[in-house]
Amino acid sequence: MSIRTFVAVPVPLEVTRPLAAFAGKVGPEAGRIRWVDPESMHLTLFFLGDVVEDRVPIIEEALERAAAGVRPFTARLDELGAFPDLERPRVIWVGISEGAQQLGELKEAVDGVLEPLGFEPDRRPFHPHLTLGRVKKAGRRGAVAGAASRWNLPAGSWTVDRLVFYQSTLTRKGAIYQQLAAPRLGRGGG
Ligand code: 2AM
Repeated sequence: MSIRTFVAVPVPLEVTRPLAAFAGKVGPEAGRIRWVDPESMHLTLFFLGDVVEDRVPIIEEALERAAAGVRPFTARLDELGAFPDLERPRVIWVGISEGAQQLGELKEAVDGVLEPLGFEPDRRPFHPHLTLGRVKKAGRRGAVAGAASRWNLPAGSWTVDRLVFYQSTLTRKGAIYQQLAAPRLGRGGG
């Protein structure tokens, strides 16, 4: 049996809940958007896809090693953006200002332990983002950008002190995430 998995940095509810309020600022003219529950929001570092369940322990052990080598750091989310752009968004997200460099180092540490296990890292430039919503049916051009320009984004910061290895189960109502492991970042003491 295989399971769909990914590695991410969890973001506390105190930070995600105010950000999720953006859904209420966007009107129906923006199209049909599936908004992410604040409980499910995360910053993805590595998407593994389908993994044979027998390999889960060896992946967890590798992630323990990656996490142990990076010190905890402060991250701050405070920039609304979208892929490919806010005028005609497909994925609406909040980007990171503080902590982006350390998050990149954490991603490289994860790449470094998963690649030898046969998982191919994403070679595209790393753009850490917290997905707020996915556009299922596009609406009026500029509607999301307009809502964004009228919104005072509630920036939030927290201490990144662990990774989470998630199982993702796809359902008709969207993905359900379950934590398989949550290795703590190292304290820098070796
Ligand atoms: P996203 O937030 O930009 O959609 C679980 O699916 C997580 O893994 C999501 O946060 C998603 O990023 C990320 N992810 C990265 N590559 C993916 C892929 N090829 N398929 C699905 N999700 C992917």
